[in-house]
Amino acid sequence: MSKGTILSGMRPTGRLHIGHLSVLENWARLQDEYRCYFMIADLHSLTTKFDDTAELPNDTRQMVLDWLSVGIDPVKSAVFVQSAVREHAELHLYFSMNTPLSWLERCPTYKDQLVQFEKQGKDITTYGFLGYPLLQAADILIYLADTVPVGEDQLPHIELTREVARRFNFLYKTDLFPEPQALLGRFPLVPGVDGRKMSKSYGNDIAISASTDEVKKRVNAMITDPERVRREDPGHPEVCIVHKYQEIYNNEMLEYVQKACRGAERGCVACKKELLEIVEEMLAPIRERRARYEKSSYEDLRQYILNAREYLSGQGSLQSDDNGTERVPEAVVDRFKKFTGTRREKNYLREIGQYIIDDYMAGVFDENDVCDVVDAKMDLVNLILIKGSQRARLTARNTIKKVRDAMNLRY
Ligand code: TRP
Ligand code: SF4
Repeated sequence: MSKGTILSGMRPTGRLHIGHLSVLENWARLQDEYRCYFMIADLHSLTTKFDDTAELPNDTRQMVLDWLSVGIDPVKSAVFVQSAVREHAELHLYFSMNTPLSWLERCPTYKDQLVQFEKQGKDITTYGFLGYPLLQAADILIYLADTVPVGEDQLPHIELTREVARRFNFLYKTDLFPEPQALLGRFPLVPGVDGRKMSKSYGNDIAISASTDEVKKRVNAMITDPERVRREDPGHPEVCIVHKYQEIYNNEMLEYVQKACRGAERGCVACKKELLEIVEEMLAPIRERRARYEKSSYEDLRQYILNAREYLSGQGSLQSDDNGTERVPEAVVDRFKKFTGTRREKNYLREIGQYIIDDYMAGVFDENDVCDVVDAKMDLVNLILIKGSQRARLTARNTIKKVRDAMNLRY
């Protein structure tokens, strides 16, 4: 069924904007054809923001919500946080032993970024920042991924990954690592509403999670043809941002709009109104899915735990209540409150419940740990990340074992 293995990731930057949509939709499409690992690259954030981690958990959460709302499916794909799979750090260390410094120093993204940060008065000449692309190589190779869907800016990193794989295979006489290929899409560049690059920090973005009001505000702020002062003046669609958006999102109407604009038969208000409708239509289902993932109530999970008695009693190591009936510890059950969701989500929660119970039974967690896990993390998004990291870790561990074998690290 599977063409191969994909790994891709993004640094956690909080809410994404509609410029990211086409990339995410591409990821979502690929899920059916490939075994996919989608990673929140929090360690990569640390390479430049090691001194500012306060927003890391929230940024991670917001970005994952965007992914899920666009159709990244945690049942099909492992959605996980890089730092939770510590094997990435381990492989990075092994690779660091045999990677020439010059490979990293000549990386164009390294030099560019150093200059950028210097301009902002920030010194990031750290060990970790230089190693950024090598960590990325470890991210990819630890899943033996053969395909990496990324933007063009990442190509030097994929090339380095191939060199790292080749060198490892050569040094240790193995064919463990494939040489992965980048999978480039053709994604339209969506400008910010003021015509500059779309960016949260410029305040010119339309967030994937924007409310109707927010979208309205942004569309109204879009710059049209500055020379068109009155409705009777002929317009120039080629300089108009609204029109740029129509090119991307409303191709069928394009010819008509251009003609009507040039002939002053159409006002900018009509264009904006139409664009607003199109963007709304695009974002409405995404918003809906996001809201469902955001909701955190746990009734079904609690129910699952209760029903799991049967399963657990077969294992014979549970506490008994007064009637001699074996049960899941009260304190655990109490932690699971309410969950409402679709059938599919409930099934998914059930599966995760199973995982927690299994680990409890296997002695990975004791009762207090289970309560901690539940208190701290038991909402759908965090569960997805726990589960995804668990899944990723299985593969990562397996690769590490083979790497250590190849390197004669036996003890
Ligand atoms: N460097 C990527 C970026 O800045 C994020 C990233 C980290 C990544 N590890 C990766 C992308 C592995 C693809 C594969 O966007
Ligand atoms: Fe732009 Fe439409 Fe106004 Fe022409 S009519 S300038 S295309 S918004």
